Amino acid sequence: MGRILLTFALVVVVMAVGISMAEPVNQSASGGLFWSTANGNGHLARNAETDESLNDHDELDGGFPSLDGMLQWAIGHSDPAKLELKAHDVQQLSTDELQKRQMEIKELVEKLEMPSDAKLMQIAIDDLNNSSLSLEDHLRALEELLILVEAIDNANDLHKLGGLASVIRELSNSDPGIRVACAWIVGKASQNNPVVQKQVLELGALPQLMTMVKSSVLEEEAIKALYAVSAIIRNNLNGLKLFYSQGGDLMLQGVLSNTTADVRLRRRSVSLVADLAEYQLEYSSKLEVPFFSNCALVRLLIDLTASSDLDLHEKVLLAVKNLLMLKSTEFLVVDGFCGLQGALEKMRQQLQESILEENQREYATDVEDLCKEVDFIYLEKLKKISQVPT
Ligand SMILES: *[C@@H]1O[C@H](CO)[C@@H](O)[C@H](O)[C@H]1NC(C)=O
Ligand SMILES: *[C@@H]1O[C@H](CO)[C@@H](O)[C@H](O)[C@H]1NC(C)=O
Ligand SMILES: *[C@@H]1O[C@H](CO)[C@@H](O)[C@H](O)[C@H]1NC(C)=O
Ligand SMILES: *[C@@H]1O[C@H](CO)[C@@H](O)[C@H](O)[C@H]1NC(C)=O
Repeated sequence: MGRILLTFALVVVVMAVGISMAEPVNQSASGGLFWSTANGNGHLARNAETDESLNDHDELDGGFPSLDGMLQWAIGHSDPAKLELKAHDVQQLSTDELQKRQMEIKELVEKLEMPSDAKLMQIAIDDLNNSSLSLEDHLRALEELLILVEAIDNANDLHKLGGLASVIRELSNSDPGIRVACAWIVGKASQNNPVVQKQVLELGALPQLMTMVKSSVLEEEAIKALYAVSAIIRNNLNGLKLFYSQGGDLMLQGVLSNTTADVRLRRRSVSLVADLAEYQLEYSSKLEVPFFSNCALVRLLIDLTASSDLDLHEKVLLAVKNLLMLKSTEFLVVDGFCGLQGALEKMRQQLQESILEENQREYATDVEDLCKEVDFIYLEKLKKISQVPT
């Protein structure tokens, strides 16, 4: 143990020397170490004040509180004269030699045992499971997991390590901050990951997350829960089936019709409708979705274009464009698609105003093009349906 640490500390020292050589800066470590190359004659000096702690062997038992501590310990346990000599040697190296030296150091560092991600996840999960730890500790553990599950291998390991069950359990925590973090982790781990999607579905988290979207008082919680819901059902037939059987259509209508809901939540909901229409194209033979064939939802989407939010306009247009592709919306088309053309016309008038504003011109022009495209698709579809006698 002590030996490994010593090796590590020495590498750190050598690295510090290497770094100073490559980029001569006036570095002063906080713990009394002072390394300077400013005078062109590198020397490593120890501050006499810290000598006592340097020789304190007890420090080994508790591990080193910081890199500085480790460094000090290493210096204290090595021959300063030799170290100084080494430092001096490094100064004499040519660029090539220095690069070689840096490679060696890099290899050494790679050989050192650093905790694996799995180990770090295990620690975070243990902390999350440990009910005698504080709320802050639990939040910190969740923040760590949030970062770790970004890597797909870690996301795949989460369930094996018992972490997915813990995170899902904490979705019902009484603290909103914990719930937000947990929904976020579930969403991130499920993102484009069929393995985790399946695990999350089996652990029964989808209905709970859908309830969080509907009933949360905290905007952030609804947003992160919707993020997770979208990630779980993305291109996932079983997820989609469960989503619809749990009233996913009503959940979306609830958000879309709520005029006081956060605009981010509405944008996300509209994007989900666009995605659902796309999945419907893919799974139409295996999935019956009646809610795309009446105006309840389409009308809500179209009404959203009355807002002045360009991003929302764009998302609504993309959703409508996808919906127009569906077979099940054909008879809505015959009926004017829930007032689509009037809405498109109003939107274009609004966009003309936005185009006059310098900072919005480019985006507004793009959205206007999309407006024209949707109108064109609608008219084509109308023409096609009218030509085919039913
Ligand atoms: C380097 O740091 C020392 C101690 O803080 C200071 O006295 C000296 O002026 C610095 N030299 C340069 C070149 O910044
Ligand atoms: C839970 O945390 C407390 C406080 O840090 C610690 O003493 C205890 O060993 C932990 N329990 C488990 C099971 O890890
Ligand atoms: C943590 O809790 C989860 C869910 O309650 C459980 O599945 C897991 O085994 C626990 N892990 C540990 C290490 O106690
Ligand atoms: C609408 O959204 C606001 C803000 O998120 C929320 O407080 C309210 O409960 C929602 N109303 C309905 C009917 O869901």
